Amino acid sequence: MEQLKDKLKNLSGGKILDIGAGWGGSVEFLTDALSNYVSIVGIDISEEYIERAREALEDSTERDRISYKIMNAQNMKFEDNTFDTVCITNTFHHLYNIPAVLSEMKRVLRPSGLFIFYEMFFEKESEVENSYHHVHHWYADVDKFVGIPHNHTLTKGEIMTHIGSLDLREVEYVLHQKSPVKPNDESGTIEMLIKRCNMFMDKIRNNPDASELIKIGEKHLELIEETGFTPDPVIGAIGYK
Ligand SMILES: C[S@@+](CC[C@H](N)C(=O)[O-])C[C@H]1O[C@@H](n2cnc3c(N)ncnc32)[C@H](O)[C@@H]1O
Repeated sequence: MEQLKDKLKNLSGGKILDIGAGWGGSVEFLTDALSNYVSIVGIDISEEYIERAREALEDSTERDRISYKIMNAQNMKFEDNTFDTVCITNTFHHLYNIPAVLSEMKRVLRPSGLFIFYEMFFEKESEVENSYHHVHHWYADVDKFVGIPHNHTLTKGEIMTHIGSLDLREVEYVLHQKSPVKPNDESGTIEMLIKRCNMFMDKIRNNPDASELIKIGEKHLELIEETGFTPDPVIGAIGYK
């Protein structure tokens, strides 16, 4: 997210809303990236993630200015024009209804407020053999199988069309392609990915109806160990209401 950080470093966040906050990674990103802020509310539909985010906050020096709420972004319980900044990172492909969430985000953002966006994308034309999106598509298929909304990676064009629909002012995009990660990489990225694949495998391991999905997962694990993988490119955007 370094390229997006660079766009944010001289901006004040004011009162911020983070959509799909998960267990707090994006809230941490915002506190780090913006020059300052008044408060951050992180919302997520998952009770379990909000619980983890709240636990992580207990030891934070920022805990007085940050709070988490369980809430569906499609139907937020905030008044119109409540926030100076609204942010959504790594969450588009988890949404059941992207236009409905974007419309809610615009409603709760005050006039001239700042919109922040970040997401990986996928381009068929520039696809490389061991690209991460194959693994990600499998994650999404596993989640769908167990009843959790999770979509395949969006294309850059689809993402830009969604952001364009917000009709923001002074929109700036940043694009970034991360380098391939080799099996002998020492940063721990391969181990993390294997651990994550196994977490998804655990969701289906004992389900006889999931044998095809299990086979696909095993293939991904093999390929990651043998050849590594290439992360998906990412797109970030900022703009004003
Ligand atoms: C991959 S996580 C992103 C976490 C964090 N923003 C980050 O960048 O690290 C996507 C999150 O979106 C949440 N989510 C999905 N649909 C949602 C909805 N309708 N309203 C609120 N949160 C939602 C999921 O529960 C999940 O925690």
